[in-house]
Amino acid sequence: MTTPTRLPDEAPALRVVPMPADSNAYGDVFGGWIMSQVDIAGSVPAHRRARGRVATVAVTNFVFKQPVSVGDLVSFYARVLRTGRSSIVVDVEVYAERRVDGRAKAVKVTEAELVYVAIDASGQPMPLPPELAEGETD
Ligand SMILES: CC(C)(COP(=O)(O)OP(=O)(O)OC[C@H]1O[C@@H](n2cnc3c(N)ncnc32)[C@H](O)[C@@H]1OP(=O)(O)O)[C@@H](O)C(=O)NCCC(=O)NCCS
Repeated sequence: MTTPTRLPDEAPALRVVPMPADSNAYGDVFGGWIMSQVDIAGSVPAHRRARGRVATVAVTNFVFKQPVSVGDLVSFYARVLRTGRSSIVVDVEVYAERRVDGRAKAVKVTEAELVYVAIDASGQPMPLPPELAEGETD
């Protein structure tokens, strides 16, 4: 018997159920829909870290491991891996929850790594602010 997949303990950056308009005629969700949601989810910790506007500059890894179907509950977990002067590298893991033979099942469906850049009001890269300590607010 295989070990059931557990969702990560932290809160997801985004949780959404794909609709028929997000899929092909067979109910398989478009990869582009997942990529779009991954970009939104990844921008959440990036925006927090930059404490302001960010732009996606690169997608450095993207693997669709399992298909997603209409009606799955899809959760996107995003965390900052590392930062540079203005860049923020974010890892996004995507899980789908569905019912199989009447039982709830979680499946890891996608893994991705994206790079965001902190930008100013004119869209130019700007240095990241110092990281806030745990519990500190600005
Ligand atoms: C993001 C943008 C402002 C960066 O401008 P730029 O002139 O390339 O800036 P820089 O060369 O100074 O690079 C900024 C940072 O991004 C990083 N970066 C740039 N291109 C990268 C790439 N292909 N992969 C990984 N990191 C990259 C640089 O290493 C640098 O990191 P650092 O400051 O931590 O050292 C500019 O490329 C842009 O506006 N792109 C379009 C963004 C966008 O519209 N995204 C939505 C998709 S349509």
